[in-house]
Amino acid sequence: MINRQKGTYDIYGKEGKVLKQISYVVDAYASLYNYDYIRTPLFEATELYHRSVGENTDIVSKETYDFKDRGERNITLRPEGTAGITRALIENKLYGNRNDTIKLYYDGTMYRYERPQSGRNREFTQVGVEVFNSDDVMIDAEVISLGFNILRELGINDVEVHINTLGDKESRSNYTESLVEYFKPHINNLCPDCQKRINTNPLRILDCKVDREMDIFKNAPKINDYLSKDSMERFKKLESMLKILDVDYVIDNNLVRGLDYYDHVVFEYITNYSNVTLGGGGRYNHLVEQLGGPELPAVGFAFGVERLINEIINNQEIEEQKLDVYIMSINEEEKMHALEISQNLRLNDIKTEINGNNLSMKSQFKIADNAKFLIILNSEELNKGLVKVRDNATKEEVSVDESEIAEYMLGII
Ligand code: HAM
Repeated sequence: MINRQKGTYDIYGKEGKVLKQISYVVDAYASLYNYDYIRTPLFEATELYHRSVGENTDIVSKETYDFKDRGERNITLRPEGTAGITRALIENKLYGNRNDTIKLYYDGTMYRYERPQSGRNREFTQVGVEVFNSDDVMIDAEVISLGFNILRELGINDVEVHINTLGDKESRSNYTESLVEYFKPHINNLCPDCQKRINTNPLRILDCKVDREMDIFKNAPKINDYLSKDSMERFKKLESMLKILDVDYVIDNNLVRGLDYYDHVVFEYITNYSNVTLGGGGRYNHLVEQLGGPELPAVGFAFGVERLINEIINNQEIEEQKLDVYIMSINEEEKMHALEISQNLRLNDIKTEINGNNLSMKSQFKIADNAKFLIILNSEELNKGLVKVRDNATKEEVSVDESEIAEYMLGII
């Protein structure tokens, strides 16, 4: 037997149902908020991720699936969606009219070579949104609340949005410098990863899972002291807008995110009880330019779909969707009628099943237990143009004209 690869999962049964429910809700909300769907390739040039997500991030330095294709090109399976979508925006010149905001949403599998553990897969699914060509803080608020409202619609209520600002480019770089100054004398107390980060990606020291509880962290410089006046005002405005939109948020000054392209707001949707990060995002005003496009500000987020599925399955009853009708048949003649009636009912939006496995009457009754109605076929009645309909709850039976069966069923379902 050949088994699935470590860190990959087959999604079926309850999980499959919830997966589809999530994509249904995301489609509906994307439409309400006026987003268009985009699909980009599953693999891209390796260089794209080095120049966007960042060379020194954990994702690019340790987790990407890189390979050379048969034409000796350096290829990477996408570890996230933002870089590919930004590339597509530039390549297809989706920014045609400079007054339009471009609102895109997407879903798809992503690949990160992580140590598999709960909530960390090597293949996982993201749904996300990206908005280009608006630097308005109102759009930050709209994007954050869109994610929050999707969670609400999915019945995930135990969530707060953790928000922080990295400020503009200058605030961010001043802050980064002061962090390096501060942590350098303590370098021997830091974990091996942070000892490297101090040279490569100092901001990431702040959300180190290993060192976070140490006293030196509590006294580390705070971003607030390095924000320009504009960045500070922008963040205050965002807060008042999130209040108007009824988003439950908390300010978390240690939130920096694991990707290099952010400035201004960064945020994560985190469950209160179990402390799971369901999704995250932020503003990235310089990525389009960095990848060779025009100066176009942007903001977006992505959810991890498997994490949403787990959250829903652990906390909600998943309802089994009942069959409307099961059509019982035994011999060839009855089967022909069953096939024809099933098509007639299904084309009338009636959820129908047939005996596709040569089952005995007894087994069919068992299988049909979750159907609201049974249609029982027998040759004698069929010769008179009739079929029997049984209400599975009351066990009452009536004979109905076969030619009028769809209308009849529509009337009682
Ligand atoms: P990210 O925080 O790297 O952001 O990923 C977003 C979400 O994907 C995470 O919060 C998590 O739910 C899920 N996720 C990440 N890695 C894994 C994994 N190994 N297994 C299962 N789930 C995982 C981004 O990817 C950014 N592109 C988000 C963004 C969009 N920023 C701006 N626009």
